[in-house]
Amino acid sequence: MHVSPNSSEPKSLTLTQPDDWHLHLRDGAYLQSVLIHSASRFARAIIMPNLKPPLVNTKQVLYYRQQILAALPAGLPFEPLMVLYLTDIITVQEIITAATTGLIYGVKLYPAGATTNSAFGVSNLNSIYHVLAKLEHLGMPLLVHAETASSTADIFDREAIFINEYLLPITQRFPGLKIVVEHITTQEAVQFILDTPANIAATITVHHLLYNRNAMLAGGIRPHFYCLPILKREQHRHALVQAAISGNPKFFLGTDSAPHAVVAKESSCGCAGCFSAPVAIESYTEVFEKAGALDKLEGFAAHYGPDFYGLPRNQQRITLVKQPWQVPMSYAFGDQKVIPLRAGETITWQIIDSI
Ligand code: DOR
Ligand code: ZN
Repeated sequence: MHVSPNSSEPKSLTLTQPDDWHLHLRDGAYLQSVLIHSASRFARAIIMPNLKPPLVNTKQVLYYRQQILAALPAGLPFEPLMVLYLTDIITVQEIITAATTGLIYGVKLYPAGATTNSAFGVSNLNSIYHVLAKLEHLGMPLLVHAETASSTADIFDREAIFINEYLLPITQRFPGLKIVVEHITTQEAVQFILDTPANIAATITVHHLLYNRNAMLAGGIRPHFYCLPILKREQHRHALVQAAISGNPKFFLGTDSAPHAVVAKESSCGCAGCFSAPVAIESYTEVFEKAGALDKLEGFAAHYGPDFYGLPRNQQRITLVKQPWQVPMSYAFGDQKVIPLRAGETITWQIIDSI
């Protein structure tokens, strides 16, 4: 990573092009609208399979991959790293078929009912233990939405409960299983990652690094900050920042950029998800700069993810310069609009180049 000039106030930053290890691209006209924001910043992304209907078999996943590639502007290199959606009835054969394609890089465990389009997720973890054994055997990562879907569990405790009651036993029963605990939001999750071996890692979103729950709830209810897992207290945000800037390769970048139309967010029952793709790498850079840890950004954003997934690091580089720009109030989203994270705010870092 190159920081220039050599002063305490860097004006530009060149680093290995980052990847996004957790991304929602949607499909159809929505995909067409949002893909460019990720593809112009990130070289690769792990693509979430929670479409309507979810991608529960290899054929569906590969069809979606073709749709993503077809939606890419000509000449823009971007590699979608596909993911299969786990259900209670998924077969071991389906896992083998997915792995054999060489195009599917993980399987996603949504506890049924935990979040957007998770109704077909796993309702009984015991029912997929034979599948987890196969994943462990194949070295294929299990990507986990680590929240209990129990309606009696307090929403702010759902991550910690899931980790203790479900994830810990899985790691004990399948010690070689590669697991990514997606979008961690609590001190407890950070500690869990620190306490477990190198085959267990976590992604961290930029919204969970930037905001605590006051952003969503104090002085009025702001639906564009509503995501799952939900924003937590300041002490948790602080723990996430410390983890991200620690240089520990078990923590890496995953935006969980999850666009919803304005009407679906600004509703009496609004959808969960922050659309962060247009501001993500720029905002991570601000977070790392504020924490005095710009030298740790490249590892977090561009090295530890591919290292964990056993993929090569990107050869291309990007350059960010300190050149303030204003985030648009909205972007097109099919025939609707989507409001990005930090809409209308000024961001100090801007991407000027990728080579
Ligand atoms: O905030 C979220 N939005 N969390 C999720 O787990 C799903 C995502 C979505 O698909 O909208
Ligand atoms: Zn997600």
